[in-house]
Amino acid sequence: MAGSTDICRKCILNLTPYIPGKPIEEVKRELGLDDVVKLASNENPLGPSPLAIEAMRKALDNVAQYPEGSCFELRQATAKHLGVDEDMLIFGAGADEVIHYLGVALLEGGDEIVQADPSFVQYKAASTLMDCPAHLVPLKDWNHDLEAMLAKVNENTKMFFITNPNNPTGTLISADQIEAVLDALPARCLLVLDEAYYEYADDPAYTRAIDWIKQGRNVISLRTFSKIYALAGTRVGYGVAPKHIIDLLERVRAPFNVNSIAQAGALASLSDPGQVTRSREQNRRSKEYFYTELNAMQLRYTPTQANFLWIDVGRNCREVFDALLRLGVIVRTGDIFGCPTHIRVTTGTDEQNIRFIDALRKVLS
Ligand SMILES: Cc1ncc(COP(=O)(O)O)c(C=O)c1O
Repeated sequence: MAGSTDICRKCILNLTPYIPGKPIEEVKRELGLDDVVKLASNENPLGPSPLAIEAMRKALDNVAQYPEGSCFELRQATAKHLGVDEDMLIFGAGADEVIHYLGVALLEGGDEIVQADPSFVQYKAASTLMDCPAHLVPLKDWNHDLEAMLAKVNENTKMFFITNPNNPTGTLISADQIEAVLDALPARCLLVLDEAYYEYADDPAYTRAIDWIKQGRNVISLRTFSKIYALAGTRVGYGVAPKHIIDLLERVRAPFNVNSIAQAGALASLSDPGQVTRSREQNRRSKEYFYTELNAMQLRYTPTQANFLWIDVGRNCREVFDALLRLGVIVRTGDIFGCPTHIRVTTGTDEQNIRFIDALRKVLS
């Protein structure tokens, strides 16, 4: 009888399942706790727009039918929201799925990708899936080292990833820096700007992705409804790119990949600008509070342009994680990103933030 590894493509054996943030219910079960706060997966603590909740409830009436595979209404609304043509968009079950499509549609034997490290792990997963090497270029001062990344570009480079702001560090690359990269990349190399935290960034030097895409440049911007729109559980995100790139991705898109509840929630979210304003304001307040408290504790952190903070706790992050867990606070350990004394914490409500800081103080004292 053939072993299980004999029946698959060999590169699949190099893939490891994604490690998600620890779920609240699991921590409650394991530690016998009633009250657990999760600040581990960069979710929005305010939850979705009330308009989105109402629209999703209404969408339940029609779940016997398949959704519109084209995301017709959501496509129209998103195109209008961004000021792009409707055929410049591809929707996915989260930005994750669009990253998967990028791999499947664009990569084949001999192609390479370049990305920063640590950064979001799914780019490498997409290249490994296609049996293509990924060049992981270490961050410099917790931000992309663009010079070193460009040094890895050759005639085989198919995609160059900039995670902006970067996950897990929250750092930002300016539009001028990105434009210089764009000018330097070979014609067949797609610049992938992962802008999952786009709405949180408040640095005026931030991206001009939509302008470059409208000019037909070789760029895709990845956006999501998981973060500021707080629809992570429904799974909906999208890519914006020139039409000829979207056409390629559409060839590999699974039919009905974005479910009808997600489409309804995302559509309604776009009609509530208050969702973005409220969430930005909460995040600004949270950041200020974290900075003040961490300064008082003399802990080093990286100023963030996103809804999470990268903190050097100066000791084994696993021990800190476990001790925080026992106090009912879930964060992310830095060791999964190759940084054994760091943790990443998502900004919460005021109450959750106080809970985290109190717990951290206890754990480190
Ligand atoms: C940088 C980055 N890109 C993409 C994603 C995936 O987002 P989605 O929930 O839309 O799949 C995440 C999720 O944490 C992320 O941090």
